[in-house]
Amino acid sequence: MRLEGKVATITGSGRGMGEAMARSFARHGASVVISDVDLEAAKAVAASIVEDGGNADAIRVDVTSEVDAKALSDFAVDRFGKLDIHVNNAGVSVTKTFLDLTREDMEINLQINLVGAFLCGQAAAREMMKRRSGRIINITSLSGQRGGVARGAYGSSKAGLELLTKVMSVELAAFGINTNAIAPGAIETAMSDKHHDPATREAYLYLIPQRRYGVPQEIADAAVFLASDEAKHICGQVLNVDGGYLTAGLMYSADGIEAPQPPRL
Ligand SMILES: NC(=O)c1ccc[n+]([C@@H]2O[C@H](COP(=O)([O-])OP(=O)(O)OC[C@H]3O[C@@H](n4cnc5c(N)ncnc54)[C@H](O)[C@@H]3O)[C@@H](O)[C@H]2O)c1
Repeated sequence: MRLEGKVATITGSGRGMGEAMARSFARHGASVVISDVDLEAAKAVAASIVEDGGNADAIRVDVTSEVDAKALSDFAVDRFGKLDIHVNNAGVSVTKTFLDLTREDMEINLQINLVGAFLCGQAAAREMMKRRSGRIINITSLSGQRGGVARGAYGSSKAGLELLTKVMSVELAAFGINTNAIAPGAIETAMSDKHHDPATREAYLYLIPQRRYGVPQEIADAAVFLASDEAKHICGQVLNVDGGYLTAGLMYSADGIEAPQPPRL
């Protein structure tokens, strides 16, 4: 029960990693506001957490709306009395090569992944400042750290969010608010299911030392840690949860050490 008595808001928590984080936060004793542009999905997750004995409620939030962003923080306070933890998780991915990208593709990615996180993060921080205490976790991406094919729009939005994490951490530290980011690598969710064809999967597995995709629970475990008291001196960091992807350089067998082989798909 590492989050006993805490109140958390998570955007895009109607499915995927957001849902996994919500379930973990609730298991660790937090009251959780499930928010998503898909209200039915959000309600289903909240109902299932309550059925399991946890505290949760749901609200429809489109992160690109300033009104919704404020409504999310207000809902947490009205429903559970305060706001301790906010996760900017909602995200979309357009995968097109640079020459095929349209202005609309760029705008969708930047609006939801970067401007949306800014709006919801700002609303959450304004609430947390009142009690001079809080945690904000931004879900960025390995695609915002490396120049992968077809990641021009998505990667740019996540690189922007990584930088915003650093500025937030510096400016909000004075108010007792820690801001950090989690950068997932390839994780098995509806998003990767949609965008990763067999060739993409093989390309990923070749580059990941652990030779596997992660699962949403592994992102949730990292989020519980960053939201817990154990992380109180961690501020402005980007925690990669990526099976070693960012760190890896050349991987081949040498000097009697067998490099792990990419699995055959
Ligand atoms: N799956 C991966 O491999 C991977 C890797 C790196 C980073 N990420 C990031 O992790 C986060 C979660 O990814 P996921 O794979 O669980 O995605 P997902 O597509 O399974 O879930 C995303 C959720 O966000 C919601 N959403 C979309 N637009 C929204 C909006 N405007 N307002 C509010 N909610 C909105 C969707 O309805 C959905 O429930 C995203 O930010 C994504 O970019 C995912």
